[in-house]
Amino acid sequence: MRRRPLGNTGLLVTELALGTWGLSGDAYGPVSVEEQQRVLERALALGISVFETADIYGDGAMERLLGRVTTGQQALVVTKLGTDLGAQPPRKRFDVPYLSGALERSRARLGRAELDVVLLHNPSRVALERGEATAWLAARQAAGEVKAWGVSVGDPETARAALAAGAQVLELAHNALHRSDLNQLRAELGAVGVLARSVLAHGLLTGHWAPGKEFPEGDHRAERWTSDELRRRLRQLDALRPAVGGQVLSLRAAALRFALEDAAISSVVLGPRSCLQLDQLVREAGRQPPYLEPTVLTALQARLQEVGVEP
Ligand SMILES: NC(=O)c1ccc[n+]([C@@H]2O[C@H](COP(=O)([O-])OP(=O)(O)OC[C@H]3O[C@@H](n4cnc5c(N)ncnc54)[C@H](OP(=O)(O)O)[C@@H]3O)[C@@H](O)[C@H]2O)c1
Repeated sequence: MRRRPLGNTGLLVTELALGTWGLSGDAYGPVSVEEQQRVLERALALGISVFETADIYGDGAMERLLGRVTTGQQALVVTKLGTDLGAQPPRKRFDVPYLSGALERSRARLGRAELDVVLLHNPSRVALERGEATAWLAARQAAGEVKAWGVSVGDPETARAALAAGAQVLELAHNALHRSDLNQLRAELGAVGVLARSVLAHGLLTGHWAPGKEFPEGDHRAERWTSDELRRRLRQLDALRPAVGGQVLSLRAAALRFALEDAAISSVVLGPRSCLQLDQLVREAGRQPPYLEPTVLTALQARLQEVGVEP
């Protein structure tokens, strides 16, 4: 598996990373513990050496499993802190006393004295601008407790606050139907490492969904789109269809390759929920550039504009 530098952290990351939110069962419905373990082991066997998680995924279960499965392996774990599940109701917390305890708990679950990459988990811009959490993370790095740090963000304004605070890694959503955040930030990224998540738009970009698709309770997608919004998004998939052909075997492959082709991205965070899905993604991603031929990519960008995807 090819590797890219994670910005200026000095770390090299595989172009594909395994995210564990879907696997945890928190996001898309349950996954058995046996399948969770099999997917992590399969990812390692396929050469993926970057694993993305959060302290809250499975209420700590994903960190514990990663701790067990990655022991003695060449694996880099990215984890995220900043959600207090013990509060009623659970709330975001980016104060140092809370984060210090959260870091200790993550170190214990992952079984590592030094963590690879620690991100603040979806802070608001205002929380970041207070500076407390980012200064604390920089101090943890100076103390040798984390190799690199950054922020997982939900919008460009928060990303800018993260960059201003010196974040070395940014995680953000990026896919063919949601490209404007990364595009807006592109000129400001400098040497930051970028982890791109939701490259299949939560499964929408597989092209397998009928217009009236409904999601069961416990699946975050049930709340994400109105039926009109979902229909509009599904129509926009037409822009992607002509990119399928030759080495690009499916819409899923075109979506994945759209992200892999982007030199601003260090690693694409996959979200498979089974070994079957993982195998399909790794097989269809391709092994080396060009993931999409330049002419195909240029035409795709133009068609996305035509169907109303923000540039
Ligand atoms: N704030 C944050 O930091 C944040 C937010 C979101 C995600 N993430 C991380 O990023 C990872 C990926 O995000 P995401 O869940 O939004 O990713 P995604 O890749 O856009 O969507 C994942 C969904 O795509 C479908 N899928 C995956 N592989 C497939 C395949 N081979 N064939 C058909 N469908 C397939 C599955 O849907 P079905 O369930 O329908 O099969 C799966 O649940 C997460 O696991 C998480 O670790 C982080």
